Amino acid sequence: MPVPRSIWARQLKPSPTLEVKAVADRLREEGVPVLDLGIGEMNPEIPVPDLIKQGIADALQTDETYYSAQQGDPELVSAISEDLARFGLSYSEEQIVVCPGPKDAIFKVALTILNPTAHRRRLVMFTPGYESFENIPVLVTGELPVVLPTDSDFLPDPAKLDKLLKTDDTIAAVVLNSPNNPTGTVYQQPLLRDLAAVLSHYDDVAVISDEVYRTIYYDGTEYASIAPLLPEQTFVVSGMSKEVSGTGLRLGFVAGPGEHIATLAGIQGNVSSCVNLPTQKGYAGFLRADGDFTQRHCIRDKLCLRRNHLLERFATAAPEAVWNRPRGAFYFFPDMTAYIGRRDADGHMIADDVDLARHILETTHVVTIPGTLFQRPGHLRFAFAQSLETIDQAMQHLGKALALLQK
Ligand SMILES: Cc1ncc(COP(=O)(O)O)c(C=O)c1O
Repeated sequence: MPVPRSIWARQLKPSPTLEVKAVADRLREEGVPVLDLGIGEMNPEIPVPDLIKQGIADALQTDETYYSAQQGDPELVSAISEDLARFGLSYSEEQIVVCPGPKDAIFKVALTILNPTAHRRRLVMFTPGYESFENIPVLVTGELPVVLPTDSDFLPDPAKLDKLLKTDDTIAAVVLNSPNNPTGTVYQQPLLRDLAAVLSHYDDVAVISDEVYRTIYYDGTEYASIAPLLPEQTFVVSGMSKEVSGTGLRLGFVAGPGEHIATLAGIQGNVSSCVNLPTQKGYAGFLRADGDFTQRHCIRDKLCLRRNHLLERFATAAPEAVWNRPRGAFYFFPDMTAYIGRRDADGHMIADDVDLARHILETTHVVTIPGTLFQRPGHLRFAFAQSLETIDQAMQHLGKALALLQK
């Protein structure tokens, strides 16, 4: 008899964005010129700042390749604490843990606060939402999250959350993600205040505030977080992946209430030991040097240029789509329902967003991610951290792919 697999691990869905990346990579290997608006990363179009590269190289040269403290290199933890203060968040060094990537940080928060045998054990996620919020609680408790759909502007409704918390006493945590993946929506202060007012009645319910896009706001929209409103309940997660284009460098962090963070540091020490030290040194040097956000805003401005470029061309390529202007992150999530139910040149019916994404990929080699994978069918996600030429071509191709569809 083969060794059985954990029943919880067996329930896990594959990461949809990484699956789409595999299809795009395969086409590339076959020599097909793929226009990839699928994967949510900026590299190589917008590279990691030189200062970070230099910091990492220097640490390697001076043999700083040993374990750091499990909580993180003290130099980095102190730089993160100072940097959080620039966002109006007050966290001492004891309230921060550095993890191998934001996803890992979310997982370790879940391990810290979710208990499969507790009455309150379930996580709430708003949809459309990031895939890991669906999968991580399954690994920790065996239970899928409770899903609350957002409104047509992709904003959560505090009244719906209130109703849920009043009627379901199994809820242990609520995840908020702003700026949002996959929609680019930003939760502004009045909404956060209303959500905090609801959650403040449940001081044993945690909030995971996923702020991995915390420096990527457009159109004068400003950073806002629920953390200062609920400091004893909130776990702020961020890291290098999106802020400095460091997806492959694997550095994230969590800031939260001291006792829980001490537990989380213990999990980190047992599971990962620490994040590789050169990367920690590189990020520490960067955060100290970028106290005025010059470099991070430069990345944001490059992304804003790409967003504007995409929206202008998308309007022509897909005139029947319905959409909101993304105010943050680097995703665009239009409603493509108008194109669903049409037939392609071979007479095949495009039954849903998954079919539509496949049709666009197969006919014109543009990679997008179907909204179904983020629990909002009828939509497609376009990640726009690509060159202006790629965006131009992708939108021309998209226009052609959509024009092939007959009502
Ligand atoms: C909202 C959100 N949180 C967390 C992550 C995780 O980042 P990483 O995969 O680099 O750990 C991502 C990545 O796309 C994300 O979009």
